[in-house]
Amino acid sequence: MNAENNCIVIFGASGDLTHRKLIPALYNLYKIGRLTENFSVLGVARSDLNDESFRDKMRNALIKHEKASGEKLDKFCSHLYYQSVNTSDAQDYGKLVPRLDELHDQYQTCGNTLYYLSTPPSLYGVIPECLAAHGLNTEEFGWKRIIVEKPFGYDLKTAHELDIQTHRFFEEHQIYRIDHYLGKETVQNLLVLRFSNGLFEPLWNRNFIDYVEITGAESIGVEERGGYYDGSGAMRDMFQNHLLQVLAMVAMEPPAIINADSMRDEVAKVLHCLHPLSEEDIQNNLVLGQYTEAQIDGEYVKSYLQEKGVPEDSNTETFMALRCKIDNWRWADVPFYVRTGKRLPARVTEVVIHFKVTPHPVFSQNAPENKLIIRIQPDEGISMRFGLKKPGAGFEAKEVSMDFRYSDLSGASSLLTAYERLLLDAMKGDATLFARTDAVHACWKFVQPILNYKENRGRVYEYEAGTWGPKEADKLIAKSGRVWR
Ligand code: NDP
Ligand code: BG6
Repeated sequence: MNAENNCIVIFGASGDLTHRKLIPALYNLYKIGRLTENFSVLGVARSDLNDESFRDKMRNALIKHEKASGEKLDKFCSHLYYQSVNTSDAQDYGKLVPRLDELHDQYQTCGNTLYYLSTPPSLYGVIPECLAAHGLNTEEFGWKRIIVEKPFGYDLKTAHELDIQTHRFFEEHQIYRIDHYLGKETVQNLLVLRFSNGLFEPLWNRNFIDYVEITGAESIGVEERGGYYDGSGAMRDMFQNHLLQVLAMVAMEPPAIINADSMRDEVAKVLHCLHPLSEEDIQNNLVLGQYTEAQIDGEYVKSYLQEKGVPEDSNTETFMALRCKIDNWRWADVPFYVRTGKRLPARVTEVVIHFKVTPHPVFSQNAPENKLIIRIQPDEGISMRFGLKKPGAGFEAKEVSMDFRYSDLSGASSLLTAYERLLLDAMKGDATLFARTDAVHACWKFVQPILNYKENRGRVYEYEAGTWGPKEADKLIAKSGRVWR
């Protein structure tokens, strides 16, 4: 299904996310015919740009990021417009009214408007109120939807406040909280793997699974975003949102049907079952780390403290590993080990399901473990590891692997990227892959004790850039005789 005719209003149109992700995603949707000719994009920010200069800026970004050229690029750019607005002055939003009227008329978009908040989070509460001051939130003339970028709040209290503010002017069905991990094809594939096969689900519980490992590793550092990152850290930047959403996909119960409510009910339910962390749990089950300088492949890599925008005495974690548990019948006593970090040896996001060993080892004491490795990125795929007989005399077992690569599926080359998929869904009114407010709050509720611990200058260990985090992370998992894959 294609997008409905609409006008997309991007707040923060002069910023990084707009030219690096949003405009390229819209361009690609246009190129493959998923956006009809009846759409327009109105960029909004304080910067002094106009339609022409905004188009030039976006054109250059598309040439750079997407190698775009030719008639499609020209036609796409002709749909782009810009309006400078002082984003914290409600009165100034009045400028949007005639601009939107004109665009809806010109593109026959029936008043359908998708607002995208790609600004500093401090404006997430302000923009809805300013739009409402001019009646730009009402659905009498076409639908009005609002996409909010992460972070949805800074902690549990601010997440609640943000919700209250947004709900004063937009109803829940109009709010789309974007977590781009949910837009990743292989995160969605977790659901299909689990719920469309009779093979896995009977084993997917505490009776057969020993532990679950979730890794979100990045080889890059904080790049140009040191200022933002220092106030955030790995906990808020990756764990509270992306990795807890992945955990929910691994652990949730099957939804009755696949629609936004049914799916999101199950996600919220399992997140509410996360075992609350006491101070003692945190001390025993959490490891925080920060990268130090290193030489990697002959190149000097600076430490986190040397990054632009980072205070020289920062205690912010660029790595975290946590052992957590889910209090329900399916998962009682099964540990989930989750780790994420910047400047690790590789970029890899994967889930590893470690199955219990055989009850009685007949052939050898060191029988290989059965593992299901679900690779989310890169080289998306699934690998099943199990033991078979080593050729030759005796009965020694050896680990073998059955591998499936997502790229081998026909059609895999035309997969939509996460932002393409999610923008398209929002334009179709499908909120299934967007975070619902109860799930977001459940995540903050779980994370809040860790944030309190961090605030009291919880210990952050050092690790050399290019390694798998502090050795304490290995000790954390080794305590119970287990290992990271
Ligand atoms: P930038 O700092 O690059 O851009 C911010 C934009 O907001 C600019 O267009 C700026 O333009 C505008 N703006 C409007 N009002 C203000 C104001 N009062 N103060 C500062 N800027 C203002 O941020 P990003 O594009 O990187 O990120 C946008 C949002 O998306 C953030 O909330 C970020 O956390 C989130 N995000 C970003 C990701 C990324 O990869 N960049 C990834 C995931 C989330 P002007 O000054 O002209 O008004
Ligand atoms: C963003 C974080 O939300 O996700 C970044 O702010 C991180 O710090 C990025 O690098 C990771 O996304 P992906 O899709 O590259 O795994």
